[in-house]
Amino acid sequence: MSYHLPKEPRYAVAGATGAVGREFLALFEERALPCASMKLLASSRSAGKGMRFRGAELTVEELTEDSFADVDVAFFSCGGDQSRRFAEAATSRGCLVVDNSSAFRMDPQVPLIVPEVNARDMVHEDGSLRSLLIANPNCSTIILCVALAPIQETYGLERVLVSTYQAASGTGEKGMRALIHDSREALAQPQIHDRGLLDFSEGLDECAPVFGHPLAFNLIPQIDVFGQDGRTREEQKMVQETRKIFALPDLLMEATCVRVPVLRSHAESVSIETSRAVDLAEVQCLLASSPGLQIVDDPGERRYPMPSLSSGIDPVLVGRLRLSGVFSRGLSFFLSGDQLLKGAALNGFQIVETLARGS
Ligand SMILES: NC(=O)c1ccc[n+]([C@@H]2O[C@H](COP(=O)([O-])OP(=O)(O)OC[C@H]3O[C@@H](n4cnc5c(N)ncnc54)[C@H](OP(=O)(O)O)[C@@H]3O)[C@@H](O)[C@H]2O)c1
Repeated sequence: MSYHLPKEPRYAVAGATGAVGREFLALFEERALPCASMKLLASSRSAGKGMRFRGAELTVEELTEDSFADVDVAFFSCGGDQSRRFAEAATSRGCLVVDNSSAFRMDPQVPLIVPEVNARDMVHEDGSLRSLLIANPNCSTIILCVALAPIQETYGLERVLVSTYQAASGTGEKGMRALIHDSREALAQPQIHDRGLLDFSEGLDECAPVFGHPLAFNLIPQIDVFGQDGRTREEQKMVQETRKIFALPDLLMEATCVRVPVLRSHAESVSIETSRAVDLAEVQCLLASSPGLQIVDDPGERRYPMPSLSSGIDPVLVGRLRLSGVFSRGLSFFLSGDQLLKGAALNGFQIVETLARGS
């Protein structure tokens, strides 16, 4: 498909009022991507609302099939149902869609892209675009793959074992609200955490349940629904998407995904078996010089990746690097990355930046 991004494309963000949508708009403020116009789309609930964009006040419009006639690139971050319903209305009008939902990620016709890893999968050998619909992987998958990519390239991956620690904002704005609400509620029920020594029971607001259990002072080893095999949908996504991104359909991998009472930034504990023996000093240098990563690894000084360090910044932080105590060739490490940025909006933005550079 011969497709050329216009020099100054007309953009839309579908889901502009949400947690990821707001990050897209912030990226346009911070990064020098040329933009002829911006259309803010959301549900009928938000239509008519004003939002600031590059010094102007824009009005949010309801997302409909007619939203894309004058749009060159649309970032979709409004849930899988809306993507399934409206993505084709956009692509059929020649609009490039970068979709943040899971609706099309495992479709063999749709490239699933982490630019640091597999940007080449967006284009044919002659440089033409493979598909006007490009999928952004799951947030936990993206930050994992950025760290795995240089290791796979240099040592080869045999097995990946990962446990995630996922922030409340992984479910959007409602997740952040629920965590704050649950925290205040829990403080008003002292028996939950301090056997009744304290009482903070004043002035709590109502809030719909989001996580199935209170998240404050707790953690929940369930993200999304369980499948027949005892794994959650989130865990299945991480495995299937990692295999697709690396084109390693037989990669042995197990994920355990856990929601933790952190507002923003996911973290992951990763153990891998490699095809070739790993030299620790070499792998540190390798990761330090790889795009999208920053090494934070000085345990003696209490320096390691944490959500408080990775929130609001672009790179994925990697640390606690050590040779595997289980595999004869392998490595364990800990990472933390802002799932609203590299795990969502920033990765989508970089997909378009990569196409705009023509590389
Ligand atoms: N949060 C994350 O860390 C993360 C990471 C990666 C991918 N994602 C994906 O990104 C998408 C958005 O997530 P989020 O966290 O930003 O959620 P969110 O904060 O709940 O925002 C949802 C957005 O979708 C819009 N929306 C909902 N129903 C709609 C409808 N029927 N028609 C048009 N717009 C509609 C909402 O508009 P209103 O304000 O009008 O309701 C809002 O702008 C989801 O597909 C999610 O899986 C999220």
